[in-house]
Amino acid sequence: MKDFFTLVEIDDVAATVRSLTNHKPRIGMILGSGLGSLADSIKNADHIPYSELPNWPKPTVQGHAGKLVVGNLEGKSVIVMQGRTHYYEGVNMAQIGLPVRVMQRLGVEILIVTNAAGAINPQYVPGDVMFISDHIALLTMTGNNPLRGPNLDELGPRFPDMSQAYSRKLISLAQEVAAENQIQTYTGVYVALSGPSFETPADLRFLKTIGADAVGMSTVPEVIVARHGGTQVLGISGISNKANLDGSTITTHEEVLEAGNILVPKLTTIISGLLASL
Ligand code: HPA
Repeated sequence: MKDFFTLVEIDDVAATVRSLTNHKPRIGMILGSGLGSLADSIKNADHIPYSELPNWPKPTVQGHAGKLVVGNLEGKSVIVMQGRTHYYEGVNMAQIGLPVRVMQRLGVEILIVTNAAGAINPQYVPGDVMFISDHIALLTMTGNNPLRGPNLDELGPRFPDMSQAYSRKLISLAQEVAAENQIQTYTGVYVALSGPSFETPADLRFLKTIGADAVGMSTVPEVIVARHGGTQVLGISGISNKANLDGSTITTHEEVLEAGNILVPKLTTIISGLLASL
């Protein structure tokens, strides 16, 4: 497994994508657990299995299809990851960042990242949508940063700013679209842990204390790589379960996938409306 990728290696993957589609995507999307069917609305789609892409991380988890869908949505050219790989699956951070790097080299300027997340904020219920205003990078904070290794100066600075990791402009556009469609949404802080075990009640009380509204096992590495390369980010958490702060219920992957059924139509409306307004 490679620890870092060079620009040549990244460009090799980008060239493979270019050889398999004529679309020139400017918007990228990463679809989280149970949210893959969002890609079904894409028109004139080219489907590229991850197995055709050198070094591309392959998802092993149920609810993640494992292909790129490149095509048109609301008149915009998009490249969509139907399924992502998580750190807990055994890959390293460089591999998790590779798809974002490839998107950047293909010309992607906006990245829409979705995930399934547990609700720490007691107001949220399964099926709710939370726009990510900021993140707490517990997953990457003390050594596992995806930018570790030689800096790719052509793509971004050694010490990239993260003060506005999530674009305020994209959040407010997405909020407007949701309101126009009578979809209630929240805006809050996402905390990323490595997983795959869910949190203990004490873990969750700690996460609440440090200011997290929702918890998950993804997104932050991809967002760090996106921001390093100057890509604008909209992050959306689909709330799949209530986090269990008092130990009275259990959390399962099945409920995470089930909430996807409620979330996909809402997220499809919001993302389609957003793309139309861009
Ligand atoms: N915890 C962590 N990750 C998750 C959860 C959760 O409760 N739900 C979906 N992803």
